[in-house]
Amino acid sequence: MRGLYDNEMKLEFLSKSSNEAFARITVAAFASQLDPTIEEISDIKTAVSEAVTNCIIHAYEDEEGIVKVVTRLINNVVEIEISDSGKGIENIELARKPLYTTKSNLERSGMGFTIMESFMDEVNINSVVGIGTKITMKKAIKKEEVQETISEEKNTKLIV
Ligand SMILES: Nc1ncnc2c1ncn2[C@@H]1O[C@H](COP(=O)(O)OP(=O)(O)OP(=O)(O)O)[C@@H](O)[C@H]1O
Ligand SMILES: [Mg+2]
Repeated sequence: MRGLYDNEMKLEFLSKSSNEAFARITVAAFASQLDPTIEEISDIKTAVSEAVTNCIIHAYEDEEGIVKVVTRLINNVVEIEISDSGKGIENIELARKPLYTTKSNLERSGMGFTIMESFMDEVNINSVVGIGTKITMKKAIKKEEVQETISEEKNTKLIV
């Protein structure tokens, strides 16, 4: 039986800052099945890093909790869901605004959601105060058009 997605993976880890790199590298490795460019992979890593850091810093604050990451591939689209069962976001519209942060004293710049939005095609935020937050992000991996122009003399492939 074939599911809706071409491929899917799930991660669950403790909200320790040492796991931020683990999440970003693992999602990037999984998404690399779609043959992304270095820039596309770097965009995905940055967006995952921002969302996971938010779970560690804002959702659980001084406590430790579970962060879940689900990554799905469908056609040429990477869909990433990052969720926590932490304190939730009171005003989602405000949280999305550039420079808005509830932790300005901790050298946060309030740019996490703005960065996610600029590097991914779609960013959705679902959050319930006291229950948790789920961020869903999508990015299409644009296939390079490969034109196989086999030169008669050199027998080389030309990528345009
Ligand atoms: N998972 C989360 N749980 C609870 N609150 C969150 C979560 N993610 C974001 N927020 C809230 O949304 C605000 C904006 O998040 P954003 O990532 O844009 O900025 P920041 O984390 O404060 O700063 P920066 O990401 O630049 O270090 C945060 O200050 C916090 O109040
Ligand atoms: Mg942030």
